Amino acid sequence: MDETGGDLRATFRLKRTEMCGLLDASAEGREVVLNGWAARRRDHGGLIFIDLRDTSGIVQVVFDPRASEEAHRVAEAARPEYVLGIKGAVRLRPEGTRNPDMKTGEVEVLASDVEVLNPAETPPFEIRDDTKVDERVRLEYRFLDLRRDEMQESLKLRHRVTKATHDYLDSHSFTEIETPQLCKSTPEGARDFLVPSRLQPRRFYALPQSPQLFKQVLMVSGFDRYYQIARCFRDEDLRADRQPEFTQVDLEMSFIDEEDIISLIDGLLAAVFSAALGIKLELPVGRMSYDEAMETYGSDRPDLRFGMRMATLDELFGETGFKVFAEALGSGGSVRGMRVERAGSMSRSELDSWNSKAQELGAGGLVWLILEESGLRSPVAKFLSELELAGLRERLALEPGDAAFILAGPRRACDDIMHSLRSQVAGSMGLIREGDFELTWIVDFPLLEYDLVEKRYKPLHHPFTSPTDDSLRSLEEDPLSARARAYDIVMNGTELGGGSIRIHRRDVQERMFSLLGITESEYRTKFGFLLDALQFGAPPHGGIALGLDRLAMLLAGRQTIRDVIAFPKTQSASDLMTGAPDEVTPAQMRDLGLK
Ligand code: AMO
Repeated sequence: MDETGGDLRATFRLKRTEMCGLLDASAEGREVVLNGWAARRRDHGGLIFIDLRDTSGIVQVVFDPRASEEAHRVAEAARPEYVLGIKGAVRLRPEGTRNPDMKTGEVEVLASDVEVLNPAETPPFEIRDDTKVDERVRLEYRFLDLRRDEMQESLKLRHRVTKATHDYLDSHSFTEIETPQLCKSTPEGARDFLVPSRLQPRRFYALPQSPQLFKQVLMVSGFDRYYQIARCFRDEDLRADRQPEFTQVDLEMSFIDEEDIISLIDGLLAAVFSAALGIKLELPVGRMSYDEAMETYGSDRPDLRFGMRMATLDELFGETGFKVFAEALGSGGSVRGMRVERAGSMSRSELDSWNSKAQELGAGGLVWLILEESGLRSPVAKFLSELELAGLRERLALEPGDAAFILAGPRRACDDIMHSLRSQVAGSMGLIREGDFELTWIVDFPLLEYDLVEKRYKPLHHPFTSPTDDSLRSLEEDPLSARARAYDIVMNGTELGGGSIRIHRRDVQERMFSLLGITESEYRTKFGFLLDALQFGAPPHGGIALGLDRLAMLLAGRQTIRDVIAFPKTQSASDLMTGAPDEVTPAQMRDLGLK
């Protein structure tokens, strides 16, 4: 033995017979061997208690010198996170010391033998759920962080989600097919990660932003139903629900329409909810048109766990004498109002702070009015007519005690700011029904939007999305009125997935490229293989991809997908544990023809 009690052998003597977290009263009297980590050690005079942790949970072990002096001596030297083998007898805890909050709280193990399998340094933070430590430290010592119960639970939940997905899609005749990680870039709208080719200097592979084109090709090949739990890569700005590499549940089907995909995914989500949380999801998931979502929530990913609905007030204030509104409307903008339930009790300084928040977000200012029994109260009420005040109450369905928040300016900006205020205000007022799952499909999307900076049309989804039949007829005359055969699914204000029925005819695909300002030589070079495939008997087809990380995050009740990814990246896309990205040797650079 070394001085820490560690046995200098490669093998170990005390090999487990049971898992810590599974012991209960039914094991009373049984002799067991456990392997795990010392989660906590307490020295109570003669007795030493060690909470032993393995992946199944924690059980209390008692070291009593009367039972084994040797085991007691080793336990005295043990420290948190030591790896131990413990042999002992399961017994009921004495009356009054049972712990109903613990799964194994009725029992304890009286140790007769202990083996230190490996000592441990003092960890940089306590391995417990309520540990108060900066996330960067957790990420640097991820191997310790993942030992924590909530991280173990999150990753196991994620496994149940994946397993249920495989089972469900298998039972619906899907074939899982892997597509390449080294590809030509697919335009999903983000920047590509590039991999230099050694064999072909100055040429690059792109890591896939999604398997979009391969899965369409697989439909042309006649696979009928493809799926893949696919790793995707996008070099974009990171947020709580965005990582540079992430996972999609990606699928594609032939000879189907929107309804088939929507009902398949409804069923998939129900299977996942049941497997992950034992919750029965009410089906069918509701639907909302894109226009309604934008009008009522200022966003195509509305959080339906609370009210705070919006309305456009352009008509109401069409003739207004209030300069702020008149000027916004006069310059082609909009006046947008939002009902803030029960916000009448906000203090003047709270209301002012929401005004500052709106300004930080880019608004000229936030107008607020409070509906009291006597009428609407606001510093600007005196500028508004009786008719306007009454109209406002009606349009926003205000009840006494509510507030109205109003923004005036360019429509898109108003929507974005109001959407952001909506969730922040709801969060700070406790209006969000935490623990609820509110899902909705968003349908009837526009096909295109106009990018004012790049001065060209851009697809809302991607260039392979089919326009509706009506839109196809007048696509070139009126591109912005065109509707897409696309659908998104939104959960608690997060875009969970999106997909569409695809263009399956070469001529239509070429028209689409042209509309997007992609020249013939460009699209032939980039997408020649797809256009060819469409010419050789492409079936009508469509599909969808769900963000697996986001799904797992929402089901686990976490705020960021980093908590359901074992080894995520930080905001600046680094892996703090391994130190990626890193420099490479001059020889590696030379091999790749980079220097
Ligand atoms: P889309 O680009 O909408 O569609 O992606 C589908 C879903 O993937 C998730 N997602 C992400 N999750 C984490 N980090 C990211 N950086 C990230 N980017 C996207 C989201 C999103 O809804 N090929 C199409 C799908 C199709 O048309 O079938 C596609 O990739 O949850």
